[in-house]
Amino acid sequence: MTRIEYGDGHDVAEIMPVMTRAFDPAYGEAWTASQTLSALSLPNSQLLIARDADQICGFAISRWVLDEEELLMIAVDPNHQGKGIATSLLEEIIANLLINNRKTLFLEVRDGNTAYNFYRNKGFNQIGRRKGYYSGNNMSYDAITMALFFET
Ligand SMILES: CC(C)(COP(=O)(O)OP(=O)(O)OC[C@H]1O[C@@H](n2cnc3c(N)ncnc32)[C@H](O)[C@@H]1OP(=O)(O)O)[C@@H](O)C(=O)NCCC(=O)NCCS
Repeated sequence: MTRIEYGDGHDVAEIMPVMTRAFDPAYGEAWTASQTLSALSLPNSQLLIARDADQICGFAISRWVLDEEELLMIAVDPNHQGKGIATSLLEEIIANLLINNRKTLFLEVRDGNTAYNFYRNKGFNQIGRRKGYYSGNNMSYDAITMALFFET
């Protein structure tokens, strides 16, 4: 059974294999260990880890400022995709967001990443586009900005 736990910078080495396996390096979406550690060193950032029998199978990183939160990174190991793990990670982020009266969850997704459909499935809507946001091997790719709004 998969359980969702909170982690911190000490868990970076353990989540990096999932980061590396989940993203195609051609598109420049994955972070290095150093970038991940930097993100987790910022105030108001959080790491959620999905474990299945003590093996890390997915994680998510988000950060909030006042009543706005941004989902900075979410990844599930390819061997564990399609089992509702990203859904569980997102549900935990949203539960925590609501407890803390935050009102909006933003994210960026590469134009062409099928994760866009996952986010649409979860109620996110496209609100903008950032030209050339991701730098891949030979070219750059736009990011689509999406948001989920919570009324309280
Ligand atoms: C996107 C990602 C995190 C989804 O993880 P997951 O654990 O497989 O997702 P879930 O099993 O919770 O899927 C929930 C729903 O979204 C759908 N879905 C998930 N990934 C999808 C995808 N890539 N394309 C289309 N639909 C997808 C599932 O079919 C499922 O639909 P259902 O509830 O109707 O059955 C995973 O595919 C991944 O790690 N991708 C690579 C990294 C990445 O691109 N991250 C996003 C960066 S912005």
